Amino acid sequence: MTKTAEMQKASRAWRRRGQTVALVPTMGALHDGHVALIRRAGKLADRVVVSAYVNPTQFTSRADYRQYPKRGAADVQRAREAGADVLFRPKSLYAKDASTWVEEVDLSRGRCGAKRAGHFRGVATVVMKLFGIVQPQVAVFGEKDKQQCEVIERMVRDLFCAVRIVQLPTIREKDGLPMSSRNLRLSPLERRVAGRWAKAVREASQAGAGRSVAKLKFLLRGLPGLRLEYVEVVEGQLYAAVYLGKIRLIDHRPCRRKS
Ligand code: PAF
Repeated sequence: MTKTAEMQKASRAWRRRGQTVALVPTMGALHDGHVALIRRAGKLADRVVVSAYVNPTQFTSRADYRQYPKRGAADVQRAREAGADVLFRPKSLYAKDASTWVEEVDLSRGRCGAKRAGHFRGVATVVMKLFGIVQPQVAVFGEKDKQQCEVIERMVRDLFCAVRIVQLPTIREKDGLPMSSRNLRLSPLERRVAGRWAKAVREASQAGAGRSVAKLKFLLRGLPGLRLEYVEVVEGQLYAAVYLGKIRLIDHRPCRRKS
């Protein structure tokens, strides 16, 4: 389904029949992490809508936006197999003269927000639009994007959105790399280095909050093609982002507490 009006109509019809609606917002290129979100959504509501929309306003680089992986037909099948009732693939969610934004100005400031000006404003705005169109009672997000989850929860609270936010733990590949559509763009060598970066984050988090930042910097030294963007501890969690070539990867882990 691509038409906003059709999506609104379908959702309204379900609700009139007393059925509940869950939304899983994605940017498409669905992977097993998304499948887990869709399955959980199916347990939380009668109807599941998966949105697949590469939202231009949350990208800080045009090239990154243009190169974001797209998997049209494969996404339709994956969503259906995972139990979605509708894969909503709007062409655009912005009128040419769109001039309304949703901006959270506290939780979106540090970590990824400090490095990607306007990113969380784009995310909050598009998620609000999706809530307006799909009218879900519940929306399911992956904890991989932890700061995004925090921003959305704050937005929902502050703007009195009648939707419950459910977060699912990060789903990882066998070598510990968080699943992400961006992983598809890694070369075989970059993919191997990505596994070592994920291992380094885990090891560094074991060093405890006070030492994990230094430990991660140490562990990442010499990994080919990898550039650390930031590493920070916030409320006992180690957060970091790196670039492997042009691909940006993020991860976070709870720091081990001293016993
Ligand atoms: O996490 C994502 O894929 C995106 O940021 C989201 C929530 C679908 C908004 O475009």
